[in-house]
Amino acid sequence: MSDTSRLTHLRCEYLKNPLGIDELQPRLSWIFESSRRGARQVAYRVIVASTPEQLAAGDTDMWDSGRVESDQSSHIEYDGTRRRSRDVCYWQVSIWDELGNVLTSEPGVWTMGLLKQQDWVGKWITYDPKIIERDAEALQATELQPGTPVLFRRSFEVPSIVRRATLYATARGLIEPRLNGQAVTDDKFIPEWTDYHKRLHYRTFDVTNHVLQGENALAVTLGDGWWSGYIGWQETRAPYGTMQNSVQMQLEVELETGKFVQISTDHNWKCDTGPILFSDFMMGETYDARREQAGWDLPGFDESRWLDAVETPPPCERIPEFGFSNNQKRETNQPLPLVAQPSEPVRVVEALAPMSVHTAARDACIYDFGQNFAGYVEITLSGPAGTRVQLRHGERLNPDGTLYTENLRRAKATDVYILKGEGTEVWRPSFTFHGFQYLELTGLNEPLPLAQVRGCVVMSATPSGGDFECSHPLVNRLWKNTMWGQKGNFLSVPTDCPQRDERLGWMGDAQIFMRTATYNMDVAAFFTKWMTDVADSQDVDGIFPDVAPRLDEGGNFIGLDGLGGGAGWADAGVIVPWTMWRVYGDRRIVERHWQSMVRWLDWLERTNPEGIRCNHLGNNYGDWLCIPADTTFRTHSEMKTLLATAYWAHDASIMAELAQMLGRTTEAERFEEMEACVRDAFQDKWLAEGGRLVVETQTAYLLALAFDLLPEHVRGQAAEHLVRLIAKEGWHLSTGFIGIKELNPTLTLTGHADVAGRLLCNEDYPSWLYPVVHGATTIWERWNGWTAEEGFFDPQMNSFNHYSLGSVGEWLYRHLAGIELDPAHPGFKRFVIKPYPTGDLEYARASYRSIHGTIESSWQRLEDRFKLNVRIPANTEATVCYPCPPEAAVLEGGLPANESKWIRMLGHDGQYVAFSVPSGTYEFSTAD
Ligand code: BGC
Repeated sequence: MSDTSRLTHLRCEYLKNPLGIDELQPRLSWIFESSRRGARQVAYRVIVASTPEQLAAGDTDMWDSGRVESDQSSHIEYDGTRRRSRDVCYWQVSIWDELGNVLTSEPGVWTMGLLKQQDWVGKWITYDPKIIERDAEALQATELQPGTPVLFRRSFEVPSIVRRATLYATARGLIEPRLNGQAVTDDKFIPEWTDYHKRLHYRTFDVTNHVLQGENALAVTLGDGWWSGYIGWQETRAPYGTMQNSVQMQLEVELETGKFVQISTDHNWKCDTGPILFSDFMMGETYDARREQAGWDLPGFDESRWLDAVETPPPCERIPEFGFSNNQKRETNQPLPLVAQPSEPVRVVEALAPMSVHTAARDACIYDFGQNFAGYVEITLSGPAGTRVQLRHGERLNPDGTLYTENLRRAKATDVYILKGEGTEVWRPSFTFHGFQYLELTGLNEPLPLAQVRGCVVMSATPSGGDFECSHPLVNRLWKNTMWGQKGNFLSVPTDCPQRDERLGWMGDAQIFMRTATYNMDVAAFFTKWMTDVADSQDVDGIFPDVAPRLDEGGNFIGLDGLGGGAGWADAGVIVPWTMWRVYGDRRIVERHWQSMVRWLDWLERTNPEGIRCNHLGNNYGDWLCIPADTTFRTHSEMKTLLATAYWAHDASIMAELAQMLGRTTEAERFEEMEACVRDAFQDKWLAEGGRLVVETQTAYLLALAFDLLPEHVRGQAAEHLVRLIAKEGWHLSTGFIGIKELNPTLTLTGHADVAGRLLCNEDYPSWLYPVVHGATTIWERWNGWTAEEGFFDPQMNSFNHYSLGSVGEWLYRHLAGIELDPAHPGFKRFVIKPYPTGDLEYARASYRSIHGTIESSWQRLEDRFKLNVRIPANTEATVCYPCPPEAAVLEGGLPANESKWIRMLGHDGQYVAFSVPSGTYEFSTAD
């Protein structure tokens, strides 16, 4: 019924009411929600105005799209007057549905940021290093060596009542801005990680409620972060320039009188060291509460002891001297572009209470959060001034109950809090995070009660998207672990792990897990941002890197052969935009990065004229961490060449599809030919009689099948060979990062869903459930991270929070529950529901919040029939495939499906009957 219909989820560039964007033609989306069957949008109208009053009055001074006959509800490009810096844009959408009803949304808003370099009138400021020298004794009170955060402040007068106040802020380093004693935002780690040689984010905050008539104080703490702290393997500190951090802020206050007050950073600011003695992502943070200066961020503070801030030149772009094979960067005189952050900020998204505490050794109390996660701990405590409390973080315990930290390598992950001794004190670190499940607390006579220890889960605040449940509790935990793998590693960039000295945007891991990630959460803005990091890191020859933002660590294995180009890793440069197109219907990301993608394919073709990708393979990781290690980087170079060639063909086929979509027909032909040529070379080299491959590994067959590299008539046989290899392992998987993504989907799509189900439910090593049985709460980096026989694997590379092997999450949604996209209708505008009930599972259900609304698929095996419930969001359609023999009489809502006025039977393929189904909720079953 129409009264349950509404328009929700207004988004601008994927974000809810974003402030300070710099897209001149932002794309608008909404979701049409309706419980009515067949609910459809037939036309829309978007209006945009500069005040809410004008919007309400329909006075659209910015844009009125007029009535547009279209069912499109995502990526509607703003096409009104040209946007200028600081514009405030209120918008609203109305739609006409198939019954002629008009629905109007609540208003949404976005604002424009500072679009031109000249809009920044402030100066970059830093501190006189004398400050640190002056406080040297206090600051060296530790064996750890990272940077000391510095405080800056400035008082200013506001002559009359404030109408609107906006703060723009950026830094070389990380900042926590404050106004009149309060944090301006809860967002963490500002500005986030980009390739700082190429671009720097700034953020825009609405601070209208913070600024008052009279005297005010604007203040900020400036720390290290990605700019100058340790990143990667810690051989690199300050990889982006000097270790001296700096900040630029600009506060713009519009008064009721119509006048403006502008306060920006310059030499009139004052600075001093504060309570944070040092802070670093890997090392941790030390905070001496005795050094707090009460009122430092308030007006009227006595700043006579503080030093003048020092103006410093703005950052400039840095370019590689001789291509990326040489690490030397040369600073240009081009100002570094300051760009608005296009993705959700990092935030504390959840709080965890510890489940238990035990005493491990002397006064060490170990708290167990029952969940491995990324973030930090907030403690509430009291005690004498000068009491030093140490917090160490670890993912696991040693057999004797002490904290296991060997696998953190050189990350110290240690926070220290020194009490000021003035009653109850609450503390959490500012500029660090750790990957952990256990906290070791020392320095107190008594353990802190559980209620005074709080785990703060920190991640890029990507909105939730999916849910999954089935009748197998361990599989449910596995799904949860994929979610926690994502929570622990989607932190500004998709990292490999959050705990050890690495935490890099590994491209292989990201592309393998991306489809799972899109089901679990809305990661559209997150990947939009990261794809820019990827493109920024492409080298002069067109080679995509293996990690983005690029890390130039000379001398270690990242630097062996051109710092990129790894098969399955560098290819993310093509796979990410393609996935964005398929999952979100995002054409712009493909257009924006098209030239980069073409340059990558040019490079592959140029360097591998024979159609076999065997040259310049960079670090060539192969099927990383597979079992047995037959395809990893030390052995089996033939397999690695096969893997690389398969990915090349995959890239070429993606490029052909995308070129077609963009209307670039000549390029589409070029890439079709390229794919055909690589495919032929692949078959010549590796295909033997009867669908057999001459390199026989599970992953070889998986790639050949998944990337469609075999002649149609041998696909079935090749799939049989794959199953044979699995059987040979006692029905176990042996794939690494690369193969695992394709394993269950490929088995399922080649008619072996039963094998996929069997692999899913295995509990012995190696399997997905082996870690689950042994208490894993996240996905482990390696199948054998810990085994009952061997204990912990070599700590040199053994993370317990690495999502790659969790790419099976995709299969849980896509095939087990059956929510599958239809490539011909990107963005799930039309999709497929096709569950594969397998194994002993009695039921499975999943929901997925697509850009067009929430899709649900839920099946249950009852004694006498199979029940399938589906939800098709308004304004979408689906092909629903119901498993049954051809002769079965299918019911929908208890009535014969073939008599329903809503659904249309499309055909039967022997196993499934397919229906075309409009929006609404439906229940399919068979007659008793
Ligand atoms: C990382 C990865 C990454 C790999 C490259 C490891 O150190 O943790 O997950 O993909 O190196 O092979």
